[in-house]
Amino acid sequence: MSPAQEIARRRTFAIISHPDAGKTTLTEKFLLYGNALHLAGSVTARKNQRATASDWMELEKQRGISISSTVLQFDFAGCAVNLLDTPGHKDFSEDTYRVLTAVDAALMVIDAAKGVETQTRKLFEVCRRRGVPIFTFMNKCDRPTRNALDLLDELESVLGLQSSPVIWPLGNGPTFKGVIDRRTKEVHLFERVPGGKFQAPVNVTSLEDPAVRDKLDDYTYNEVKEQLEMLDGAGHPFDLDAVRRGKQTPVYFGSAVNNFGIELLLNGFLQDSVPPAPRTSVSVSVPGMAQPTTAREVPVDDPKFSAFVFKIQANMDPKHRDRIAFCRVCSGKFERDMVVTHQRTGKSVRLSSSHKLFGQERETVDVAWPGDVIGLVGHDAFGIGDTLTTDRSIVYDAIPRFPSEVFTYISNPNTGDAKKYRAGLEQLLQEGVVQSFSAKNAPAGATLLAAVGPLQFEVVQWRLQSEYGAESRLTPTPWTVLRWLQIPDSMQTPNKGFDFTRLIVATGVSFGSDKFDHPIGLFPNEWTMRYFTEKNPEIKLLELPPEQ
Ligand code: G4P
Repeated sequence: MSPAQEIARRRTFAIISHPDAGKTTLTEKFLLYGNALHLAGSVTARKNQRATASDWMELEKQRGISISSTVLQFDFAGCAVNLLDTPGHKDFSEDTYRVLTAVDAALMVIDAAKGVETQTRKLFEVCRRRGVPIFTFMNKCDRPTRNALDLLDELESVLGLQSSPVIWPLGNGPTFKGVIDRRTKEVHLFERVPGGKFQAPVNVTSLEDPAVRDKLDDYTYNEVKEQLEMLDGAGHPFDLDAVRRGKQTPVYFGSAVNNFGIELLLNGFLQDSVPPAPRTSVSVSVPGMAQPTTAREVPVDDPKFSAFVFKIQANMDPKHRDRIAFCRVCSGKFERDMVVTHQRTGKSVRLSSSHKLFGQERETVDVAWPGDVIGLVGHDAFGIGDTLTTDRSIVYDAIPRFPSEVFTYISNPNTGDAKKYRAGLEQLLQEGVVQSFSAKNAPAGATLLAAVGPLQFEVVQWRLQSEYGAESRLTPTPWTVLRWLQIPDSMQTPNKGFDFTRLIVATGVSFGSDKFDHPIGLFPNEWTMRYFTEKNPEIKLLELPPEQ
């Protein structure tokens, strides 16, 4: 196969959903179709880790949840599919968001009885910002669901996303009898599969077929006819270009646990989603180069190899204390043992220990193409967002930080291990496990940590203890909202900066700065933040740091 063919057949995506919508079940079914059943077992095993003897990260075992994201690769219908796993627990972390910077499409799984839920909304927002194409699967159609038209309305009203159903349900709950493919007009009749273990037998026919007519009661038959007419007349016509720009979502209905509608979804998704997209290289100075790089799009078929690190995972195997850098290949061909430049340091590194991995299964990767994800073991200098390349003119943009929602002070209660504590905390902050800020009036010796989910703090404490032998203590803070402050130059006094006492603020509001000395405001809640905006209109509040 030529490099161009290898690239064209790659599909790299993640499933985004609220916990319990059916992401694990759907992943398993995909693997079933991709003949990667051995991996399907591991998906469930991971979800039930409490009960399984695996030497997956100890903290994950204790919690029985997944706090790391890995990649599953399987072949289906000629495509090489890379499914990047995102943690689904409510304690999800910044890692979840970062994974979404490495995908070319997202599959949004919604529990059709519940509609769009909070976590889906947050993850959707990250995809939307990047203009990633989003495909929607309305799951659990074997049970009573919300009205299918209302679910479409909700995509528009809550997410602001235009929808175009490709697959439409016939009936609801007890009257659910199957789905119709609006493109081919074929009806697929629903059969419950015991345990959903097998690829469901599919009975394909049309809405006019007497066998279908017999299955549907008069009410359902007429309702479906009417809904289809409404969709044809007043719905958004399917617009592939809008789908690929992330402006319209194709909607599929089905039941993951019953293996119903999965093949339709997989086929439609692979057909309409995009192969790896080119990434933008930015203009920056790099060590060892006289001139800054020039901003440009790096074509995926550029013969030079380039990749970026989107996730670092430490200690997947406590016996070996490994550190794995997950990289997304963006251009060229990866070959094991190749020598690349680590752009941030300007150093040459040989990539010899490259893996494809899932849980404890590791397979050495000899070759990878744009769209693929490889895990590189043992490169302690690699950090999140770093570029690895054989072309020194390529540097990918830093991975954005995401607004923190939880805060804590961390300190070291045991002066005996202060040195280890400081070294450990510094390393973890450098890895991007959590963010840190300096806060005015912070207790002596305490550092303010900020994260997307509280699990990130547990990871910090656990790693400080297990890797650095340092004790740590968390002290709660009263804040739930952090904003960067954009202060007009006219309000700054030369040499002294800004006088915060001039501001009118509600009780509990505090200030501080990030590691680049950008001022921040810390608010107990949204209300105190709004009050601040009203009383200090000259100061702009930003969700993300000013340089992004
Ligand atoms: P998640 O990864 O998004 O958190 O969801 P997961 O797949 O674990 O599914 C959550 C629950 O929803 C599971 O039930 C699963 O069996 C069920 N489920 C998934 N798809 C469907 C579907 O199409 N129809 C129905 N009725 N249920 C579905 P559970 O009771 O939590 O676990 P289990 O004991 O069934 O494994």
